Amino acid sequence: MKKSFASDNNAGIHPDILAAIIKANDYDYVSYGDDYHTQEAVSLFKEIFGDDTEVFFVLNGTGANATALKAMVQSFEAIVCPETAHIAVDECGAVENLTGAKLIPVSTPEGKINIQQVQSFMHFVGDQHHSQPKVISISQSTEMGTLYSPDEIRNIADFAHENDMYLHMDGARIANACAALNIGLRELTKDLGVDVLSFGSTKNGMGFGEAVVFFNTKLAKYFPFIRKQSMQLLSKLRYITCQYKAYFNNDLWLTNAQNANRLANLLYEKLQDIPNLQTTRKSEVNAVFCILPKEKIEHLQSKRFFYTWDDAIGEVRFMTSFNMNERDVLDFVEFLKAELI
Ligand SMILES: Cc1ncc(COP(=O)(O)O)c(C=O)c1O
Repeated sequence: MKKSFASDNNAGIHPDILAAIIKANDYDYVSYGDDYHTQEAVSLFKEIFGDDTEVFFVLNGTGANATALKAMVQSFEAIVCPETAHIAVDECGAVENLTGAKLIPVSTPEGKINIQQVQSFMHFVGDQHHSQPKVISISQSTEMGTLYSPDEIRNIADFAHENDMYLHMDGARIANACAALNIGLRELTKDLGVDVLSFGSTKNGMGFGEAVVFFNTKLAKYFPFIRKQSMQLLSKLRYITCQYKAYFNNDLWLTNAQNANRLANLLYEKLQDIPNLQTTRKSEVNAVFCILPKEKIEHLQSKRFFYTWDDAIGEVRFMTSFNMNERDVLDFVEFLKAELI
C-alpha cells in the first residue's frame, strides 16, 4: 500500500501504541478517567512537565484548542492569532462558538505572529466598545511548517503577561518542533512561559485523543466542567490515556517526529530534480510546499491524493509522517517525475 503524502493525519497508529490499546482491553476499568491508565498518563505528563502541571485528556485537536481557550477567555475578550492558525481557518468556528470570544487573525506570511502585531490591538484595552485582547494563540510548529525560536516564544509570553494576557500554544505538532529544534517538551513550552498547551500526538503515531496541559494551573479550575459540557469527555477514557505509556516509552514520540522531519528534508531535496515543479518553502518540520502546473494538479490528486494550499498559484502541500521510510519518499518522487516530465 502506497503511503499518503496528503497529511500526517492520514498515517495509521504506531504498532507499539496499537498494542497498548489492545492490552488495555484486558479488563474492565472505571470510566471517565477514574482508572489506572489515566492515572499513569497523568503521572507521565507530570514527570515531563513538572508536578505543578494539570493535564486533561480530550478527543481531538479541535476539542483541545476550543476547550483550552474556553478556560482562558470570557465572551467579551479576544484571542489574537495568525490568520493561518488552525483555530482561525480549519475548525469551523469551534473556538468562537464555544468561547463566544472574538478571534483576531493577523496577517503573517510565515504563520508566525509577532509582538508588534498584537501591540496594535492594545489600544482597545479598557474600552467597553471593544473585545478585550486576552490570549495570544500560537502554533508550534506552525501551519506553514515554520517554527518559533525559544526566544521568540519567551518574548511573546513576556509581552502577554506584562499586558495581563495569556499565551496558548496549539501543539498539534509539538513533537516535530522539539525534534527540529533539538529541545525538550518542557523547555519549549512551560519554561518559556506558555500558559496552556494543546498537546497533540495523533499526527505523530497515536490513534486518537489529545491532551490539554495547564502550566498556569489556576486556569484549570473549571476545566473538568468545560470538557464535559463541550462533549470532550470520553467515557472509556482509558483507550486514549493507555496510549501515552507507549508514546513516551524510549522517546517514541521523538523518534517518530525526527523520522517525519528527516523525510521531509529528503523529499525537498529530491523534488529539486523535477523541472516542472518548484518548491516554494522548505518546511522546518514535516511539510514541503511547491507549485505544480495547475492543469496537472487534479489528475495527480486522483492518483495520489494531496491538498492544494493556494489555488491561485497552484501551490500544494506534501507532508511526511512518522511511519514512512526513504523508499516511500523515493517512490513518491518517481511518481511525480513520471507524471510531470
Ligand atoms: C495545527 C493544528 N491544530 C489543530 C488541529 C486539529 O486537530 P483535529 O483534526 O484532531 O481536530 C490540526 C489538525 O490538522 C492542526 O494541524
